[in-house]
Amino acid sequence: PFILSIAGGGSTYTPGIVKSLMVRLADFPLAEIRLYDIDGERQSVIAPVVEKVIRDHSQSIKFTVTTDPEVAFSGAHFVFAQMRVGQYKMREQDEKIPLRHGVVGQETCGPGGLAYGLRTILPMVELCDFVERYANQKAWIVNYSNPAAIVAEGVRRLRPNARVLNICDMPVAAMRNMGAILGVDRHKLEVDYFGLNHFGWFTRVLVDGEDRLPELRRHIAKFGLLTEDAAQTDPQHSDPSWVKTWRHIKPIMDHFPEFLPNPYLQYYLMPNDIVEHQNPDYTRANEVMDGREKKLFAAAAEYKQTGILPDAFHVGVHGAFIVDVACSLAFDLRQRHLVIVENKGAIANLPYDAMVEVPAYITSEGPEPVRMGAVPLFHQTLLMQQLASEQLLVEATIEGSYEKALQAFTLNRTVPTMQHAKAILDDMIEANRDYWPQL
Ligand code: G6P
Ligand code: MN
Repeated sequence: PFILSIAGGGSTYTPGIVKSLMVRLADFPLAEIRLYDIDGERQSVIAPVVEKVIRDHSQSIKFTVTTDPEVAFSGAHFVFAQMRVGQYKMREQDEKIPLRHGVVGQETCGPGGLAYGLRTILPMVELCDFVERYANQKAWIVNYSNPAAIVAEGVRRLRPNARVLNICDMPVAAMRNMGAILGVDRHKLEVDYFGLNHFGWFTRVLVDGEDRLPELRRHIAKFGLLTEDAAQTDPQHSDPSWVKTWRHIKPIMDHFPEFLPNPYLQYYLMPNDIVEHQNPDYTRANEVMDGREKKLFAAAAEYKQTGILPDAFHVGVHGAFIVDVACSLAFDLRQRHLVIVENKGAIANLPYDAMVEVPAYITSEGPEPVRMGAVPLFHQTLLMQQLASEQLLVEATIEGSYEKALQAFTLNRTVPTMQHAKAILDDMIEANRDYWPQL
């Protein structure tokens, strides 16, 4: 049985992930679960909820809650990372500062994502170092921490040998919905996909060897990718902003009748539209703080008082996916999953060492990317521009370079002019002075 540490134990996602682990104990046996967070106070609110989830399924799993990295990682076999550097308070800044300048406000796309990247790269590297120092030699870090594309590139540059697998639940959430539409379980789908994290396209959706993407495109054009069913079984995705996210896919599909775009492409391909519909005073961070976070904290308080835990946290594909990936790593299952991985020729006309999102077979030694071939010029160009923006941001972080940060912001498709880039960057330096390296 494994020792598993969760870095970012105080996250609103922790109870859901642990619930997913509990229903899969037969596949992924656990001796101990450890929660680790630098915010001990927040973590101590979530921990009793997590402990209750564990005890409902197992009396024998040891449960440890700590802010000490040595306690957290000593001898660990797996680390699930889901840190949010600066918490929702800083996410709110990531979203609101660009909006003040008429630019998309989003936690992973555009200036918000770049700012979040500047906060997260070095703490992620520190986590890799803790794991290298204390954990089992063969330990894997499975990383959900955002902005995943930038974090992946930062870790590749600074700790090329770290055993980190970066993942995102967006493609698999899309596959869950595709499965619902087609009436098959998502595990039955074999998809082809190319891109960067939050910046890619599905090119094929095979069910028993038959490509169902054309049929899915027709369905999506009429109803969106969100079936009513999926919205009900997965409350996170019935949030108004989430539903909107999937609706916005339609104009992209109408204009480019090829492939199926990741919904995040809306921020890059129609930024003006997005800004027009964003409320600069109440963004997704506010929605999450007033919704998911409040609900979980209230449930924790109620549990403390009454001993009864209300059903107040999200269990779904987010937790299920990280457990799937961990199982494949643990037992060399070589399952095919969409993950973020060094290209190594998988996308023939992108750099060999770019961190791309493609299907890969997950072995006990890590992901083996599947060849997606060369992509069309249009897509290649969009990808190269986005890649350059993200790579410059990583270099800005490593070198403490204002100029490279400004280049990263300027190259981002969500940012219309150099002047916008500079004004936003300067505001962000101010807001992030407790978090960013000196630029
Ligand atoms: C999806 C994305 C994640 C992102 C999350 C935000 O799951 O794949 O990268 O962090 O959405 O969700 P939220 O509910 O916090 O806006
Ligand atoms: Mn993601």
